[in-house]
Amino acid sequence: MSVRTISPVKELKGEVTIPGDKSISHRSIMLGSIALGTTEITHFLEGADCLSTIGCFRKMGVEIERKPSSILVHGKGLRGLRAPNETLNVGNSGTTTRLISGILSGQSFPTVLSGDASLNSRPMKRIMTPLNSMGANITSLNDNGCAPLCIEPGTLHGIHYQSPVASAQVKSAVLLAGLYADAPTSVTEPALSRNHTELMLQGFGAYVATDLHADGTATAHVEPCEELYGQQICVPGDISSAAYFIAAALLVPGSELLVKNVGTNFTRAGFLKVCKAMGADIETINQSFEGGEGRADLLVRFSQLKGTTVEGDIIPTLIDEIPMIAVMAAFAEGTTVIKDAAELKVKETNRIDTVTAGLKAMGADITPTEDGMIIEGTGHLSGASIQSFLDHRIAMAFSIAGLAADGETEIVDSQCVDVSYPEFFDTLDSIAV
Ligand code: S3P
Repeated sequence: MSVRTISPVKELKGEVTIPGDKSISHRSIMLGSIALGTTEITHFLEGADCLSTIGCFRKMGVEIERKPSSILVHGKGLRGLRAPNETLNVGNSGTTTRLISGILSGQSFPTVLSGDASLNSRPMKRIMTPLNSMGANITSLNDNGCAPLCIEPGTLHGIHYQSPVASAQVKSAVLLAGLYADAPTSVTEPALSRNHTELMLQGFGAYVATDLHADGTATAHVEPCEELYGQQICVPGDISSAAYFIAAALLVPGSELLVKNVGTNFTRAGFLKVCKAMGADIETINQSFEGGEGRADLLVRFSQLKGTTVEGDIIPTLIDEIPMIAVMAAFAEGTTVIKDAAELKVKETNRIDTVTAGLKAMGADITPTEDGMIIEGTGHLSGASIQSFLDHRIAMAFSIAGLAADGETEIVDSQCVDVSYPEFFDTLDSIAV
């Protein structure tokens, strides 16, 4: 067990460069592995989740080299993976599990996927249902709708899938299986979720299109594909990781922080909109665009925040940032209502419960609801011992809470930040004055 003590800081100054986006890093290994030729990835996130994805494809015969400043994936082509001789270990990673299931559904050999206790309790029916209706053959070995999953060869057909949830993992699993199908495949989701799979598939040569409908729903289409072709990918910084440092600068009086290389894809940038609605002083500079993905540097200054309502179609664009938003809301003036976010219950932990537990321990006024939470901002929090419950986003959000709280805060099982941000605490130390 690792325990990290966080002491309040006077102010935060300087700059931080945000590590690579986790979602895009996963996808670059996956598409690189099933493309022809070599894919070179720079600013790849070397977090535990993305290393799980690398481990899975290595076991299926893909040579993946970790160079000092890039990753080289020597792709095998769409049908060139080979049967692994053991279970594929997906660790803590829901993205690995759900996306790779789409790819494995199209292979001519069986595979078994299994992860840690948290992963093996997360819902997998959401991908089994559409993939099996395409002709895949996926079973939950414990018959509980969770991993371990066994994926046996099947012949895939194109379908239209009406997804009940706005989930990029579900959408991506179906689109990736659609590459192997005998006819076009499409997925309609209730609100647009992150579109990194669609953008990257286009870059690798697949035919993918998205329709945004007037009622807020969105449909992604993919055509069956002969081959994908290796690409150069420069991964933008992860806005989900940037959120901790943006929040830190907003919450600690006197702070001014340059947060560099933040991915600004509009399907991910809801956190910035919420910050603005709460009264945040954030200046966008140095905007650029590569591989369909925007990025920018953000100059963030301490701001007196006010409560807001976070609901509806914005939720999928900030789902992983809700623990951080909840902490900000506790420091704000007025009420913050977060709703339409029942998906929080099926993340690495039930984040309605784990955010509530942490904020209550620090003295906040929070009421959990069926699909979110209500926080009465009191302007301050008290240091406390916080259980991360091995959830990286809980550990990081409450570390930031600790910087601005009265007294010391302890984060129990703090090493879980390695899942998405191994250098998180070093970066935090480097900007504290
Ligand atoms: C992810 C999608 C989101 C997000 C997760 C990463 C992805 O999950 O919470 O951390 O890379 O596609 P859902 O698609 O289940 O909402």
